[in-house]
Amino acid sequence: CASTRVTIIGAGKVGSTLAQRIAEKNLADVVLLDIVAGMPQGIALDLTQARGIEQHDCQIIGTNDYADTANSDVMVITAGIPRKPGMTRDDLMRTNAQIVVEAVQRSIAHSPNAILIIVTNPLDVMTYLAWQASGIPSNRVMGMAGVLDSARFQSFIAMELGVAITDITTTVLGGHGDLMVPLPRYSTVSGVPITEIMEPETIDRLIKRTRNGGAEIVELMRTGSAYFAPASATCLMVESILYNQSRVVPTCAYLQGEYGLNDIYVGVPSRLGCAGVESIVELNLTEAELSALHISAESVRQNVHQAKEMLAAVA
Ligand code: APR
Repeated sequence: CASTRVTIIGAGKVGSTLAQRIAEKNLADVVLLDIVAGMPQGIALDLTQARGIEQHDCQIIGTNDYADTANSDVMVITAGIPRKPGMTRDDLMRTNAQIVVEAVQRSIAHSPNAILIIVTNPLDVMTYLAWQASGIPSNRVMGMAGVLDSARFQSFIAMELGVAITDITTTVLGGHGDLMVPLPRYSTVSGVPITEIMEPETIDRLIKRTRNGGAEIVELMRTGSAYFAPASATCLMVESILYNQSRVVPTCAYLQGEYGLNDIYVGVPSRLGCAGVESIVELNLTEAELSALHISAESVRQNVHQAKEMLAAVA
């Protein structure tokens, strides 16, 4: 662990679970930073006390001071506020935009070579703002959503068919929201597209459930949102970057002409390695699939525009 360091900004549910995963997989030392005094320090101490039982040797530091995050290899931004009763979607976007922009600027000031993974919602908008605020090349800034969305699709297919989840691969493109684009043609059971083994109505049902994946959990939990699967999904990206694994996974990445889209962050299959997003894989989409991706991207673009105006108004 000694040579690599991952900082997580926001030691809430996703951040603290991610810290646990990274440490228990022995991937890197972890710095947990939060705005709440004492909280990240307490979590770090708790996780540290489990080291002997879990048999790992990673250091876990909790802090409220960005100086302690210096020289991180990867920085994950989960800081933000959840939507509270009475709060509009716009209020949430404005508040989280301010939090993410500040967190990124302060993070990069201490770790100029870091790779950034954004987790705060609304994901695609926050990732774009984070990249602009960071001043670093776009390949070093990305967002986590597609790994989670495709993991949800994967698990619903496994539950429906009663087959091993490890034999299922899924692909979900687009923004992290109602307009995401799960791709049945590129979702397979041991290499066989699900379009060949499932009825269209069944596939549609599973796609709807995937799109609604986060909301279904919020409805059940009532006072919180998903964090185990989001932390696992982020951990997979961190691991592929730190160990230069070249995993090809759906990532909220910056597009410069790929899929006919320009100057936008949206979910596409990307190869993740030590340089960050090393390349974007361009799938051969049908007209309908491409049009669904463009509709999703257009909605992200409008929200980015709106968020930028909000930030300008409070500046
Ligand atoms: N700097 C650092 N930390 C902050 C700041 C800030 N300016 N503002 C808020 N935080 C912290 C909060 O104190 C809290 O501990 O961010 C943490 C967010 O944690 P939770 O509220 O538990 O939210 P969580 O479930 O972890 O989700 C985090 O990920 O999946 C997305 O939609 C989700 O945007 C949300 C994010």
